[in-house]
Amino acid sequence: MELLFRPRRLRRTESLRRMVRETHLRREDLIYPMFVASGKGVRQEVPSMPGVFRLSTDLLVDEALEVADLGIPAVLLFGLPRAKDDTGSEAASARGVVQQAVVRLKKHTPGLVVITDVCLCGYTSHGHCGLIHEGEVDNDATLEVLAQVAVSHAEAGADILAPSDMMDGRVGAIREALDERGYEMTPILSYAVKYASSFYGPFRDAAESAPQFGDRRAYQMDPANAREALREAALDVEEGADIIMVKPALPYLDIITHLAAEFDLPLAAYQVSGEYAMIKAAAQKGWLNEEAVMLESLIAIKRAGADLIFTYFAKQAAALLGK
Ligand code: PBG
Repeated sequence: MELLFRPRRLRRTESLRRMVRETHLRREDLIYPMFVASGKGVRQEVPSMPGVFRLSTDLLVDEALEVADLGIPAVLLFGLPRAKDDTGSEAASARGVVQQAVVRLKKHTPGLVVITDVCLCGYTSHGHCGLIHEGEVDNDATLEVLAQVAVSHAEAGADILAPSDMMDGRVGAIREALDERGYEMTPILSYAVKYASSFYGPFRDAAESAPQFGDRRAYQMDPANAREALREAALDVEEGADIIMVKPALPYLDIITHLAAEFDLPLAAYQVSGEYAMIKAAAQKGWLNEEAVMLESLIAIKRAGADLIFTYFAKQAAALLGK
């Protein structure tokens, strides 16, 4: 049999495969999301996210040290406030859980980049990402509150702010508020393309942030749309985003590829709670090989074009990559 080209020639051994490998997963690519609870000594595992814990600030520091030791450069913080109300007022409080956590982390793990999620859904009694007016999320009134939340995180010492609310104009509003107060060097990582996804289910258990009425489809994107993703990202870039993100990751690899081709900013992707839970659950049943599927999903997200990956697997993946 005379075949001019045999692709298998370069697949024969691991050494050959290593030489021609096109994409690499590095510990530097990973960002670990963490849930901060109020109180002391709190360590509660999230039932639908095995291995992920809600931690009070004292115990958060221990886990952050572990994260830094593994060579992971950054964490993302979500807060579980003491009390929720209509306007999510604890979100912008200097004494809020996230603000206090940032202060502690910057003291005990100064080299670790602290990213904070800027949103209201974990803080509002109705569970929506903005202020409610006549049964709907009021976009422009929400912008002011988001800007206050962002400033309070910057004042606490957050290194990067990550708005995840999907209000129109929020990157510009946050940029302006930060600049006015002298935080012109604090970058914004915008959840530019965030879909109204059912893969967020376990996260809403973890953050107790499920909407109490309706859903988020009036502000998060329709999973059927791709062109709109380019428009959303372009708006955030114009408004001053420094890093843009696609979320979820694995079901939206085409969107990651579109954005990587179109924009010259660093691109992040968020492997969300449901993506994590699916792999964990199948592995617990013995139906999938957890490590292999985890690494395959992460390399796929990079191959699609992501530079950075937010993943609950960050510690596990970094431990394997470090070897
Ligand atoms: C807050 C926010 C959500 C996630 C990140 N930021 C939940 C939501 O929009 O309902 C989801 C993360 C995950 O599922 O891991 N708006």
